[in-house]
Amino acid sequence: MGVYHKFHFSTYTDSARGDNLNTQMTHNDRGKINIVLHEQRRKTNNKDTPSILKNNEELKQIDEHFSSFIGLTHFKEIIKEIYATKLMNSKREQMGLNANKQVLHMIFKGNPGTGKTTVARELSKALYKLNILSKGHFIEAERADLVGEYIGQTAQKTRNLIQKALGGILFIDEAYSLARGGHKDFGREAIDTLVKQMEDYHNDFILILAGYPLEMDRFLQLNPGLKSRFPFHIPFHDYDLDQLLDIATQIASEREYELSEKAQWKLRNHLRDKTVYKASHFANARYVRNIIEKSIRMQAIRLLQETDCTVKDLMQLTSDDIQFDS
Ligand SMILES: Nc1ncnc2c1ncn2[C@@H]1O[C@H](COP(=O)(O)OP(=O)(O)OP(=O)(O)O)[C@@H](O)[C@H]1O
Ligand SMILES: [Mg+2]
Repeated sequence: MGVYHKFHFSTYTDSARGDNLNTQMTHNDRGKINIVLHEQRRKTNNKDTPSILKNNEELKQIDEHFSSFIGLTHFKEIIKEIYATKLMNSKREQMGLNANKQVLHMIFKGNPGTGKTTVARELSKALYKLNILSKGHFIEAERADLVGEYIGQTAQKTRNLIQKALGGILFIDEAYSLARGGHKDFGREAIDTLVKQMEDYHNDFILILAGYPLEMDRFLQLNPGLKSRFPFHIPFHDYDLDQLLDIATQIASEREYELSEKAQWKLRNHLRDKTVYKASHFANARYVRNIIEKSIRMQAIRLLQETDCTVKDLMQLTSDDIQFDS
């Protein structure tokens, strides 16, 4: 149904907004003529016109960018949100409406090896391709890169880092270590400088604070002003058994290896124990990566004993190759 406006003896055009207007003249009971303008807004999702997002090349590119990551559905949805908002903002601008640039600072919370650093690095490339970041570089920093040794040095170091990060992503790992030494510590100065610079340059770079969930929660509770400055709080969940096995298969196939059926069962049984009796330091995908890399070395040693090997031999990781550090 079209929206319509009533005007007494006035004409109305709105070509800038690109709407189709149908006029209709009516007489009201006091003899005044109303000109009724029916706006027939161009619909973008009816049967004839494909939706803006469907068949969108850029969106396909994002999907491809992150398709190699197993799981991370929440993160993938957020990327689509950011992209959709960017697209609609440019359409709004074209039609003379306000389009506020998005503030994209993020908190990444997840256990070891859940993909925080890898995803952040990939995000900088993806957002550059989508024209959301002007340079798309990635700067990874930790406490020592921000905190100085004398008064004033910390603010300067932190400002310099942000200057370098403009147009890209500044990723601060184990961000809670900035609050480590209490009120007298220079880490406090780094946090205050970050907050100030986030406001001043909020359109020009993305700040990502990353760390383990409990520590990050405590850190954000202690710094309430900080939490609300990050529109995106992204959880990186532990991978379940099937996801860990998918990651193993993927890491192997990226290197042109495959796991024999017995090898897969051996790995599955081992990872089942790991996921059931989860130790707090269990390193998720990194743990799996290490197992595959070790089994590749074990396979090489095994094949050294052979006189000849086929392509299949060179590709296959057997259950003997799969070994676990105790
Ligand atoms: N979803 C995934 N799919 C495939 N590989 C993954 C995935 N998540 C992580 N990895 C791999 O696991 C390894 C560890 O990931 P990463 O270093 O990004 O984890 P992290 O969360 O930053 O860990 P930490 O908290 O210890 O710094 C990397 O080699 C990465 O490629
Ligand atoms: Mg990391």
